[in-house]
Amino acid sequence: MGTAIASNLPAFPFIGPDSDPFVPVDAPDLARLDGPVSKVRLPFGGWAWLVTRHADVRQLLRHPGFSSDQYRPGFPVLNPIPPEQKDAAGLFIFMDGDAHSRLRRMLTTEFMIKNIRRLEPLIEETVVDALERMRAAGPGVDLLSAFALPVPSMTICHLLGVPYADHDFFQHHSQVIMDRKSGPEEIGAALGALAGFLAGLIGIKRADPGEDLLSRLVAERVDTGELREDELVSMAMLLLVAGHETTANMIGMSALALLERPELLAALREDPSMAPNMVEELLRYATVVRTGLPRLALEDAEIGGQRIRAGEGVVAMLAMANRDGSVFTDPEEFDPLRQEAHRHMAFGFGLHQCIGQPLARAELRIALVELARRFPTLRSVKTRAEIPTRPLAVTFGLDELPVTW
Ligand code: HEM
Repeated sequence: MGTAIASNLPAFPFIGPDSDPFVPVDAPDLARLDGPVSKVRLPFGGWAWLVTRHADVRQLLRHPGFSSDQYRPGFPVLNPIPPEQKDAAGLFIFMDGDAHSRLRRMLTTEFMIKNIRRLEPLIEETVVDALERMRAAGPGVDLLSAFALPVPSMTICHLLGVPYADHDFFQHHSQVIMDRKSGPEEIGAALGALAGFLAGLIGIKRADPGEDLLSRLVAERVDTGELREDELVSMAMLLLVAGHETTANMIGMSALALLERPELLAALREDPSMAPNMVEELLRYATVVRTGLPRLALEDAEIGGQRIRAGEGVVAMLAMANRDGSVFTDPEEFDPLRQEAHRHMAFGFGLHQCIGQPLARAELRIALVELARRFPTLRSVKTRAEIPTRPLAVTFGLDELPVTW
């Protein structure tokens, strides 16, 4: 399609109304779509098919004829690729077929629920530590920087086996990467520092293995010749980047949703067994991967009755699939007891479905239960409408969440 035609299409990504971080698509944008699979104009040129229904998103994300390789010409780019990510040897999130499954397979055991359970005491410790520091700094803190951001980066530290003495270094550079105020040079320097640190750590793990992911991958994959060291370094960076901002934004959005309904925080305090379903509903309701998942058709296909030709871009709109009324009753309502909550696709679906989801679930559950338990009088200083958001970041989230108690 020529640029002239593309310019008449609705401009994607859609941004919800300013006042409501939980409304993923504004009504006027919805009204401009001319069907469940319809054309939208992309922010960096060209157009793509927007796939919005739950069943169609599933069909798309498990279809082997669609590529995740954002380096291919014609790929529907939603976020420009930072130059520092070009060292992509282990970034299997952008790979297809055997190249993707070869690397992903090496991590599947690591992220199995039973292995994540072993990390739970450390997550608990991390969460409690962050909350007690927050208590000491307050009352009156930004919950995002005091709590939501440190928890995932410390958790990745534990997972990878970063020695205690290096936690501050790791944490500092992770925060720079995630900080909205960091410039591209700062981010590039932080990514470089972490990659250098991880390369050094691999040497240490080889000499002195521990009970951690890096030690196991060095012994079982690198030293057997299955995996190159540079692949392992960028795989570890992928875990850091994919697991950090997503989880932090989810902790922030979840805290806001619960602070708006203090009776839910009280219920969680009384009965922590509510947490797992509440977390599923929060994942559905917040869907932080707001702009959806882009793919490039490598062959002609039909999705949701729409013919898609090889070379065309598509976007799986998770946030809309998670509000599909044929799957979720009263989809715009936040209902922590919702039975079908687990059917959400906040972690994607199919071949690239989030490998870190057992870890993310454990972090969210522990974070929310401890928050409810330790801060019974916690409240947000601002209303939903007053809190600035980050609509165009890779994952959607709040810019700050000032709280007091
Ligand atoms: C993939 C969401 C936490 C590691 C994905 C995808 C989504 C997602 C939607 C699919 C991407 C695609 O199909 O293109 C989330 C959300 C999280 C979260 C909402 C938190 C609430 C984590 C954590 C880790 C992680 C904690 C690891 C420490 C990954 C990796 C992939 C991935 C490695 C790529 C999988 C593949 O390509 O096969 N995530 N994620 N994520 N996620 Fe997560």
